Amino acid sequence: MNILAIESSCDETAAAIVANGCNLLSSKVASQIEQHAPYGGVVPEIASRLHMENLAPLTRVVLSDASLSFDSLNAIAVTVMPGLIGALLTGLNFTKGLALSLKLPLIPVHHLRGHVASLYLSENPPSPPFIALIASGGHSLLCRVHSYTNYQVLGCTHDDAAGECFDKVARVLGLSYPGGAELSRLAASGDPSRYKLPRGIVKDNPLDMSFSGLKTAAVNLLHNASQKQENINLPDFAASFEQAVVDTLAPRLIQAACLTGDKTVVCAGGVAANSRLRDTLTRLCDEADLSLHLAPREFCGDNAAMIAAQAYHEFKAGNFAKMSQNAFANSEI
Ligand code: KG4
Ligand code: ZN
Repeated sequence: MNILAIESSCDETAAAIVANGCNLLSSKVASQIEQHAPYGGVVPEIASRLHMENLAPLTRVVLSDASLSFDSLNAIAVTVMPGLIGALLTGLNFTKGLALSLKLPLIPVHHLRGHVASLYLSENPPSPPFIALIASGGHSLLCRVHSYTNYQVLGCTHDDAAGECFDKVARVLGLSYPGGAELSRLAASGDPSRYKLPRGIVKDNPLDMSFSGLKTAAVNLLHNASQKQENINLPDFAASFEQAVVDTLAPRLIQAACLTGDKTVVCAGGVAANSRLRDTLTRLCDEADLSLHLAPREFCGDNAAMIAAQAYHEFKAGNFAKMSQNAFANSEI
């Protein structure tokens, strides 16, 4: 069962072919970071235009990389939500054309389910039910994955996403967009207890999160120091900030599992590439006797392999797109 998937929800154009939801045959990502970096963030129209240019060539590349022809495909999959609407529509319309001309079923995939499905590409894939922490540039949420296609949200951020918070603070530090990974590199040699930064707590639901207070406190600390011409130790600051994000994310995954009684937990999304988060989760899950699955680093960021992996399960559940299928900027998982 070979599925060709396309991902174009933000600033990466990606295509991949995965067999049976777990065997990766080819995966390519055309990053647009260079084109968006001068603006300090993603420019939606530039993203859509670049997707238009990249989709067809990238599809040819994955087919030839997998030594397959269109004839050997069984279905086409595409991210239809959530994301930048223009960007999503480029991928959706491209795949509608492909599915129609090749007479293949088209499978609509939720981007965040795709992030979780990156785990199914790992050597030791988890099977539902499990608790998932998804932390990316646009979203931070905790879900119970009842089955491959049945998700229940247990908690989410009330304001910024974890990755968004990383990127904003990195930008104020003068690091290039998207600064999460670079900030993390800076933090590696720093002392995480040097600067005091707040941990966001949301009343009512202990599994909900907030990052805007941390973001503001971190930015104010830098601005105040600069006004007073005080020196900030950058690695120590980066480590203190990173620790505050990790202290918000990691214990909630453990707490969610304690509340539901699940013994398997997973972490996925761009921020799941963060070493401090991975190390902390490993330690906490060990102490709590939970089985932890971390998304393979190569599939933490946006890619189409994870979309193809999820599409296999959507296919089995009978979730197909019609030619009237629309894309959605926001959508429940
Ligand atoms: O999942 P993703 O590729 O795109 C979205 O769906 O948003 O996540 C991108 C986010 C960015 O905010 C990026 O800065 C962050 O993931 N990120 C990291 C690291 N690598 C990527 N954040 C912290 N530490 C990292 N090592
Ligand atoms: Zn993503």
